[in-house]
Amino acid sequence: MAEIDWVRVRIILEREEEQFSKSHPRSRRMFERACKSMIGGVPMNWMIEWPGPFPIFAKKGRGSMITDVDGHTYVDFCLGDTGAMFGHSPKATVDAAYRQMLRGITMMLPTEDSIWVGKELTRRFGLPYWQIAMTATDANRFALRVAREATGRSKILVFNGCYHGTVDETLVRLVDGKVEPRTEAMPPPVDPNLTTKIVEFNDSGALRRALEPHDVAAVLMEPALTNCGIVLPESGYLDAVREITHETGTVWIDDETHTWCAGPGGYAKARGVQPDMITLGKPVAGGIPAAAFGLNKEIFDKTIANLLQPIGVNGAGGTVTGNALALAAMRATLAKVVTNTAFHHMIALAKRFEEGVQGAIRKSGVPWHVIRIGARTEYQFREAPSKNGAEAMAAADFTVSRYMHLYALNRGILLTPFHNMALISPYSTAKDVDMHTQVFQDAIGEILA
Ligand SMILES: Cc1ncc(COP(=O)(O)O)c(C=O)c1O
Repeated sequence: MAEIDWVRVRIILEREEEQFSKSHPRSRRMFERACKSMIGGVPMNWMIEWPGPFPIFAKKGRGSMITDVDGHTYVDFCLGDTGAMFGHSPKATVDAAYRQMLRGITMMLPTEDSIWVGKELTRRFGLPYWQIAMTATDANRFALRVAREATGRSKILVFNGCYHGTVDETLVRLVDGKVEPRTEAMPPPVDPNLTTKIVEFNDSGALRRALEPHDVAAVLMEPALTNCGIVLPESGYLDAVREITHETGTVWIDDETHTWCAGPGGYAKARGVQPDMITLGKPVAGGIPAAAFGLNKEIFDKTIANLLQPIGVNGAGGTVTGNALALAAMRATLAKVVTNTAFHHMIALAKRFEEGVQGAIRKSGVPWHVIRIGARTEYQFREAPSKNGAEAMAAADFTVSRYMHLYALNRGILLTPFHNMALISPYSTAKDVDMHTQVFQDAIGEILA
């Protein structure tokens, strides 16, 4: 088994940081200007996590490429951390959005596009009723509220290693058998012991024990974890989740925000299981902010009396939610961008990406592995795939990740900063993928003992 030379990692990381700073003078100047008024020098805090000493400032994103203000062009496998999973500015979405912008962006009135979108979400995801949200965080928050209303219970359950947006009750970890707030996040407004239960993924016994007191409104879960590396469900696990939630009267909310990469109807659909509620966000309107949550007939019947009260303030929605622009973009994206043909291309190329990375890992002998869900591929710094969030999180290595990402960035490849993940868009090419394989191989080659 090959070993990493940690001294070399640090020396080369320094060399790469120097190279980055020298070759991005305009981004550096913009960052310095931004720091005077923007918290952390960026409009959204995740943007500070890119691997260089400052983020690159974007000039243009198109298809699978991004150009920065210093004139560098990158093959983009980050794709806005899934917001642009189907490519930057897909033409059909842009055309529809432009046409709608000339006819009104937000009118606090439904447009005909919403009828088409609702029907299409039902066709794809198998749930009869849908409502629009602005972000996946919102969709999860609203879904939890509906589940609490439907069950008359207040607690929720999530899995160790999860991320479902900035939903307070979900920003937790399992520590010594107890639920604790995530240490990197600001302190929670309410003690998570009062709101949240947490168990490890792929442990149906633990899930059953947690749900048996019948005090949990909803299990909020990704059908495969994607936010601590990828953790796939073991054979029969999703069926067990379906059975246990059903038996204990708990609502199963399936967050498909990332796992939509599995195919046109998401991961659960591809595995033949039907959750009670589904949440979607990020790329659902081609990058224009929009999200959605869907529910089954039973939950609809238990909650609809409240949802349809003439006074609309029921704890979900917001002034610009479901606006005409978002619905036009969703319709065009679902009809013309997120197609079977697009997935065919994306998944075939993601397999090529996986094989390339796998080949380089094997050739170099580093104890890493690579894993894939449809169009999403991720490598992890442990030999075997993780069984749960604890294993996946223990394999994280900030320094090696930073090194691999900066090495790639300096050679024209963007990877999502806080994942070792690559998304393949309908615009990605075999050349893009092979370029990554070569750079990945070279990056490992430089740090072996
Ligand atoms: C699985 C999952 N759900 C929800 C969200 C929240 O998405 P947003 O930040 O767009 O609200 C994320 C964000 O990364 C996510 O990974």
